[in-house]
Amino acid sequence: MAKRWTNDLTRSDITPERVFLNRRQLIAGLGAGTILAAAGRANAQEALEPNSFEDITNYCNFYEFGTGKSDPAANAHMLTTDPWSVKIDGLVDTPGEYSVADILSKMTIEERIYRFRCVEAWSMIVPWNGFELADLLQMAGVKPEAKYVAFETALRPDEMPGTRFPVLDWPYVEGLRLDEAMHPLTLMASGLYGKPLPNQNGAPLRLVVPWKYGFKSIKSIVRITLTDSEPPTSWNKANGREYGFYSNVNPEVDHPRWSQATERPLGGGLFSRRRPTLMFNGYDEVASLYEGMDLRANF
Ligand code: MTE
Repeated sequence: MAKRWTNDLTRSDITPERVFLNRRQLIAGLGAGTILAAAGRANAQEALEPNSFEDITNYCNFYEFGTGKSDPAANAHMLTTDPWSVKIDGLVDTPGEYSVADILSKMTIEERIYRFRCVEAWSMIVPWNGFELADLLQMAGVKPEAKYVAFETALRPDEMPGTRFPVLDWPYVEGLRLDEAMHPLTLMASGLYGKPLPNQNGAPLRLVVPWKYGFKSIKSIVRITLTDSEPPTSWNKANGREYGFYSNVNPEVDHPRWSQATERPLGGGLFSRRRPTLMFNGYDEVASLYEGMDLRANF
């Protein structure tokens, strides 16, 4: 079947792997020359103002491993990702525990080079490997009454030191409307750069919704529940004024504490030029999902 998503990015647009995997270390320790050499991008040639401490310390968020900028990379090795199973339940024909090995054996893994825009106004381009969430949901059989999909991350205090602190109401939960979940852009990622997903990026399976802010892309998923009502989401529960259920990338709706009009691409290290943020992160094909909706009210 023809895919209905736009591959407007090529390999040359990808945030360099070394930068992506080591971005915290790069930001923390290396000099400008190294960062520029690693980036090798035209927009990295001109040195801009370094980003704020706030920006830098919020780079990689996997709060289950701590809120510090290097905590996920330092601690996520504690997570046992094999064996792993995902419970699919709620309004589906065949609820049950599905092992990741079984899921992966049934899915067609493809590469998707997507823009990724964090709510904190940094961005990158990532070559994910994964399959469409729609294929997984169809495998379980979505009942006609289902309207939303709820997702849940593993909660293992022994392996996830950050969950010993009440930073968020654990486990981390997220949700999508069913039509968003079924959209061909919506990916379940199992890898990046052709390699299994590193634990700090959400192994063994994480969601990737490229037209939404990064926090919707929930990591290390253990449960997917089809429901008929809007599910709670972690950041919305933590601060509903700042983080809405939809959280579509929208340069016209600012975060209460900062502008969302521009973003800082990570590939150029601290010195990359800010560039305009695109509506739906540039994925215009999803606009029809929100026709007739007030995107300020439904932020
Ligand atoms: N998923 C879980 N379970 N816990 C988290 O803290 N952080 C989110 C999202 N998924 C988070 C999560 C946020 S805020 C972002 S920006 C992305 O993961 C970061 O993904 P990356 O580290 O792969 O770039």
